[in-house]
Amino acid sequence: MKYSCIRGTGSYLPAQVVTNYDLEKKIETTHQWIVERTGIHSRHIAEDHESALSMAEAAGRAALAMAGIAAADLDMIIVATTTPERVFPATACELQAALGAGQCPAFDLNATACAGFMYGIGIADQFIRTGKIKHALVIGSEMMSRIVDWSDRRTCVLFGDGAGAVVLSSSDTPGIMTTCLHADGRFVDMLNIPSNLGRPTSRKFTGQAVLNMQGNTLFRQAVNILGGLFDETLAAGGVSAKEIDWLIPHQANLRIIDAMAKKLDLPTERVAITLATHANTSSASIPLALDGSVRDGRIKRGDLLLLEGFGGGLAWGSALVRF
Ligand code: ACO
Repeated sequence: MKYSCIRGTGSYLPAQVVTNYDLEKKIETTHQWIVERTGIHSRHIAEDHESALSMAEAAGRAALAMAGIAAADLDMIIVATTTPERVFPATACELQAALGAGQCPAFDLNATACAGFMYGIGIADQFIRTGKIKHALVIGSEMMSRIVDWSDRRTCVLFGDGAGAVVLSSSDTPGIMTTCLHADGRFVDMLNIPSNLGRPTSRKFTGQAVLNMQGNTLFRQAVNILGGLFDETLAAGGVSAKEIDWLIPHQANLRIIDAMAKKLDLPTERVAITLATHANTSSASIPLALDGSVRDGRIKRGDLLLLEGFGGGLAWGSALVRF
């Protein structure tokens, strides 16, 4: 029986930091409101020369280096991003060429937004388990600063840019113990970015193609859905909440993360939280949090991790991982 395991992690953050105090000067908001309602203090914002591709490449190279795998050994590249520079080809194809990774399958996951990285893990894990492939690079890379309306205080304060990556490799022992993926398209209006692509001229969208979010309703959905997702994941993996060493959550709101830690009865020190300095980097937030905690030595080999993501779709997913 084959399993997949996380062999390496990597991440990239743009150098430019924008604080809540910087935002106070541009829109009607306060540091206090943002911290109290979200837990966010600052975020990294990309410069013009950076892209989802350049950030994915930096994060991917770091993960490959930690894994000790050459790009040429990759059998699959998956990039979760809602901010590709082109509609097609996929950012993953451009990344494959940039890394010199050979002719392995390479594709993007965009529609699952913040849950995109979890979908990538779920897909790569299945290919590795069946023996079809040995090594996969799974990345979340997001330029959220380019899809928010910087005059809309309800959304622009929440997001940041960055990328995170993992190398999944074939293993005789688990590794990825289980993954759970879900979506509910009845809630498309809660979180979306409209587009003119594919619309007839008569129905062209005339507003600004930026992120729309019904924050309050979404908040309640997130807490409900993630609670159920935890129960499902623990049952599927055959473990109890007490056995979890680390929660690696999507970073949308500290109040949601706190509620999830409480559900697992985990102390805050056992939750990888990057929200204060990264804000919400959508599909990049989970691998960014994972890589940070691995590289500073808090997460150790053998630890049992619960990863969870939730976002537009609505779509959500989890993985139970013996690191
Ligand atoms: N500064 C000051 N005041 C603000 C700001 C701001 N930046 N933003 C909103 N307000 C005001 C509102 O206008 C409102 O004022 P009003 O009562 O006079 O109308 C008041 O603050 C309260 O607004 P709410 O939206 O009710 O605030 P809430 O406490 O719900 O916090 C937030 C908003 C942070 C967005 C929260 O609802 C949230 O985190 N939701 C979940 C987000 C999430 O999980 N997203 C999924 C993943 S994201 C992805 O997939 C891309």
